[in-house]
Amino acid sequence: MQILVTGGTGYIGSHTVVELQNQGYDVVIVDNLSNSQIEVLDNIEKITGIRPAFEQFDLSERDKTDAFFKKYNNISAIIHFAAFKAVGESVQKSLEYYRNNLVSLMNLLEGMKKYSVPHMVFSSSCTVYGQPDVLPVTEETPRKEAESPYGNTKAICEDIMRDYCKSNEDINCIALRYFNPIGAHETALIGELPVGVPNNLVPFITQTAAGLREELSIFGDNYNTEDGTAVRDYINVVDLAKAHVVAIDRMLKEKQKANYEYFNVGTGEGYSVMQLVKAFIEVNKVDLKYKVVGRRSGDIEKIWADTTYGNKELGWKAEKTIEETLSSAWKWEKKVRGL
Ligand code: NAD
Ligand code: WQD
Repeated sequence: MQILVTGGTGYIGSHTVVELQNQGYDVVIVDNLSNSQIEVLDNIEKITGIRPAFEQFDLSERDKTDAFFKKYNNISAIIHFAAFKAVGESVQKSLEYYRNNLVSLMNLLEGMKKYSVPHMVFSSSCTVYGQPDVLPVTEETPRKEAESPYGNTKAICEDIMRDYCKSNEDINCIALRYFNPIGAHETALIGELPVGVPNNLVPFITQTAAGLREELSIFGDNYNTEDGTAVRDYINVVDLAKAHVVAIDRMLKEKQKANYEYFNVGTGEGYSVMQLVKAFIEVNKVDLKYKVVGRRSGDIEKIWADTTYGNKELGWKAEKTIEETLSSAWKWEKKVRGL
């Protein structure tokens, strides 16, 4: 059974390829390497013993996407990770973000119809909820207007899939709304490799602990939370990868309740920035210099998932502890830096 994984050399994609191969799926990756390295294929092979097929091109190019489907005519399902994902950059480069993220999805949906590929799992984000009025957020929680062009691409992609599924009974889509993915594979062979100064908390923490950054800035300690720092639901990337495999199984076994579905993928638990920093120091027995600075513009105060519906319907639950996850993040950073 062959699965197309777009963005499969990227952070979440590479972990998902490993889990798919571990479950016996045959994988073909499409990635243009705009935010990942070809060496990831070697490391996937080291972990699983299998080298996935790979095609390098840009999915926003319609002709190339069509030619891909012509060549690989035995694909059973798609997991679509490929997208630009930097929130700040998306404000400056909004058109590039809309073109890349929307057109790639549309080209794939068109290919699915034309070449009879019935199933797609799509990477959505808890960013579609904005700052929710009630916590934790369930799948019934109303979406809010996006804070950034990036966030808006996720909301629009969800709407495109919903509308396309409505008029095409032979197309099935599941959107997974990830909360905050962190950590790395336990082998430290694959992980997150941000280009330049990291925007996200955990890569900034690990790079600071590794001596690449002077000091971590904690953005705000006057939020309405227990210790005043912002709260998120941090999901281990391997747990997240496994959620994709169960979503694929659900589709292939025709267990969907509707041909467009969406699920929260989180742990159901919120951690504050300060709790996470302290847990990182304690688990890894490292020093970490940090100071509290002003709030980051556009940040929300707190969000975490109600995972009841997803746990029941998908038969999946996040398993890793925050300690295991933070330890894997540090192991990966040390490996990358040769420490
Ligand atoms: P990533 O940048 O590591 O992986 C994305 C991959 O897609 C990269 O390898 C990149 O080269 C490739 N790509 C981008 N545009 C492409 C195109 N047009 N054609 C071919 N390849 C292309 O990002 P990630 O963190 O693994 O995220 C994967 C998906 O999950 C993205 O859709 C992202 O928006 C979504 N998501 C990520 C997070 C997060 O915090 N990491 C949270 C929620 C949702
Ligand atoms: C987490 C917390 C920061 C860095 C973003 C996107 C979201 C999703 C995941 C894709 C916040 C604080 C951070 C630092 C800090 N991506 N922080 N110092 O903002 O929850 O979500 O990534 O869909 O769409 O918006 O994640 O890791 O950037 O921040 O204090 O140096 O850590 O203020 O409270 P965020 P993050």
